[in-house]
Amino acid sequence: MALEAKIQELMEMRNKARMGGGEKRIEAQHEKGKYTARERVALLLDEGSFEEFDMFVSHRTVDFGLDKQSYLSDGVVTGYGTIDGRLVFVFSQDFTVFGGSLSEMYAAKICKIMDKAMKVGAPIIGINDSGGARIQEGVKSLGGYAEIFQRNILASGLVPQISAIFGPCAGGAVYSPALTDFTIMSQGTSYMFVTGPKVVKTVTGEIVTEEELGGASVHATKSGVTHFVAESEEEGITLTRKLLSYLPQNNLEDPPIYPCDDPIDRLEDQLNSIIPDNPNKPYDVKDIIHAVVDNNEFLEVQRHYSGNIIIGFAKFNGCPVGIVANQPSVLAGVLDINASRKAARFVRFCDAFNIPLVTFVDVPGFLPGTAQEYGGIILNGAKLLFAYGEATVPKVTIVLRKAYGGAYDVMGSKHLRGDINYAWPNAEIAVMGPRGAIEVLHSKELKEIKDDEKRSKFLIEKEDEYKRKFANPYVAAKFGYIDDVIEPRNTRFRVIRALQMLSTKKDINPPKKHSNIPL
Ligand code: HXC
Repeated sequence: MALEAKIQELMEMRNKARMGGGEKRIEAQHEKGKYTARERVALLLDEGSFEEFDMFVSHRTVDFGLDKQSYLSDGVVTGYGTIDGRLVFVFSQDFTVFGGSLSEMYAAKICKIMDKAMKVGAPIIGINDSGGARIQEGVKSLGGYAEIFQRNILASGLVPQISAIFGPCAGGAVYSPALTDFTIMSQGTSYMFVTGPKVVKTVTGEIVTEEELGGASVHATKSGVTHFVAESEEEGITLTRKLLSYLPQNNLEDPPIYPCDDPIDRLEDQLNSIIPDNPNKPYDVKDIIHAVVDNNEFLEVQRHYSGNIIIGFAKFNGCPVGIVANQPSVLAGVLDINASRKAARFVRFCDAFNIPLVTFVDVPGFLPGTAQEYGGIILNGAKLLFAYGEATVPKVTIVLRKAYGGAYDVMGSKHLRGDINYAWPNAEIAVMGPRGAIEVLHSKELKEIKDDEKRSKFLIEKEDEYKRKFANPYVAAKFGYIDDVIEPRNTRFRVIRALQMLSTKKDINPPKKHSNIPL
């Protein structure tokens, strides 16, 4: 065959591979409001940047008539390309081929790009849309999943891993996204669960729909499995690109630095009066975050989960940071099990990828009660404490109002290697709030005062005394636990100066195989 004819044959094979499971199945995919695997890759990557691997791979199973049914690419599109000019590796599951189900060869294709990504140090993005293990392949498919899991584990903390879920993701298949750093689910077209509604009904008798069991809303609000919910696949892809803009390529690099047109010394006068006089009145800490970061841009992570703590990415003078903030407008910003877990994982992600941490503190303490104690607030609170104490990235903490008890220690305090710790003048840093403290310190006297009026006068007097002595930032500042008490409107400038000073910070943990975080 002449070369020209061979080239023609190559083009035909390529076209065949691009058709996946065929026109009808592509139509069916579109009718469900979903893009095909290749369309998604094209939307995700910079135009013309995709280099595909293993287009000609097909399965090698002969059972169940599969010897007569074979598709080039075998149900997954893999390769590399760029996002905003930066290298990424990608796999995109093709539901039009055997329902996107995973075979031995399909897994090998994914493993190949994961191995390359780890060698060259570039993020891995997986687009999931699959019926799970390819039933006809049996244990080979299960083995394939585990090969992917193993690589997810090895890549964790080495290169960023992002999972977009744009269709079914069920059974053990859910564990690959769960092992990655961030998960994005499309509203209405994706679901994730370990066992589907039919099995649930058989085993427990519970009747539940796919959406109720594992839809995007469920995982965004109840389980915390997904970090982002997208109204459409386009939005999911835009989010993926945006998220990557804050991240370095790998653990040995720093995040990218962007030109900044927002003045670093921008004063925010409204911050001087944003905290209500009454310490029990809430305010929205996101107003403070938006006011101080570059161009008021904040990419919130897990927005719908455990709203008493806020996490997300922003930039200061063009440099990406991870932000952690107690949210006084939800449960008074208390730390509970879910908030501790949510923030701990985020702090560890930022630390793994050299992203400085900026923490805004207004926390009345840990949530009391049997539900929390039985659920293990001790171990879960310890996760956040561990994460902050282990982190070696630059850590800048600003106490906005309350920092009480153990929660003061946990939230990026000086004692957990906080680099720069500032407080606003109205900060209250103490073992506990004034009322609780007075009731403990003066319990005997309070019992003896029978007259209500006298009792309330006594309480007010003692509370005032306590506030003057302890409920202020100056006791902590006296011991150097707070580096400076700053004017709220200057916060942006002071944080930027601190981050600039810390940009060459080096800190290490003692050498060891790995730590033993209280899981
Ligand atoms: C082989 C599969 C398949 C699978 C779907 N197909 N799932 N082929 N193995 N796991 C095929 C169908 O036969 C069909 O082929 C095509 O994909 C589209 O499937 P439909 O059922 O027509 O699509 P839809 O109605 O949209 O339903 C999608 C679905 C359903 C909900 C995903 O297909 C389904 O329930 N599939 C089985 C899911 C499952 O039980 N998987 C195994 C889970 S256990 P044709 O030729 O008709 O187009 C598991 C263990 C992993 O995954 C463990 C890892 C550790």
